[in-house]
Amino acid sequence: MNNSGKNHPIKIHTFPEKSSAVIKVADEIETLIKSRSSKQQKTVLGLATGSSPIALYQELIRRHRNNKLSFQNVITFNLDEYSGLQPDHPESYWHFMHQQLFNHIDIPQENIHIPSGTVATADIASYCQDYEQAIRDAGGLDFQLLGIGRSGHIGFNEPPSDQHTRTRQVTLHPITREDAAPAFNGLDHVPTKAITMGVATVLDAKRIALLAWGQAKAEIIAKTLNQAPSPEVPATYLQTHPNTAFFIDHEAASGLSTPC
Ligand code: F6R
Repeated sequence: MNNSGKNHPIKIHTFPEKSSAVIKVADEIETLIKSRSSKQQKTVLGLATGSSPIALYQELIRRHRNNKLSFQNVITFNLDEYSGLQPDHPESYWHFMHQQLFNHIDIPQENIHIPSGTVATADIASYCQDYEQAIRDAGGLDFQLLGIGRSGHIGFNEPPSDQHTRTRQVTLHPITREDAAPAFNGLDHVPTKAITMGVATVLDAKRIALLAWGQAKAEIIAKTLNQAPSPEVPATYLQTHPNTAFFIDHEAASGLSTPC
């Protein structure tokens, strides 16, 4: 069955440049935070690492500085972390998030949640259940930010990952490790495992926004939108979510046959 681009509910927003795309996403996040804060409600954000969200984080930092967008009432849960890395490792996602966002905004430290890369093997299952519980205790994810891997992963839900998967330890796909190799100065230094929120964890979010830039993402974006949902391309399960939007540049959209 070919679930063609028109049948899924995913809204596709294409932009000539990522700079204009991130303004739209930042607008949405700012409106959400301000509207919930005005009702004394916290905003629960699911956050991603990697190159895709960097420009968005820069825009949020700019708004924090210029417009006084406050993150005092924001709670964050990151999607994933490499297993085996200490928080201060330069390639850990803990380090990335603090460098790229948290050190520059007024979010209370206790509101930040990033899976740990240093959980003992025997404790991983209960650690992951606790991570899921912490998301539920916070009231669930209001907004989940995603990138997409060339393997079709969201978070580190590598193929095959189905729609029932929850936070757990996974083995990284060879393509994912290959893409990470330059940052780690060689494939041998790239971790083989990670902890990730599951596909079901992501799909529980009230709103999902996926960012993708550049030609290298064109093929996987087309597969994600054109193939029926299957564990072989975990991102295809986003088709089953009622409130997902892709914010992509023209290059990442270049594999789509129908204009969006
Ligand atoms: C990162 C994550 C991954 C990345 C994906 C794309 O927290 O969960 O799914 O979003 O690998 O990475 P970039 O943005 O570097 O192309």
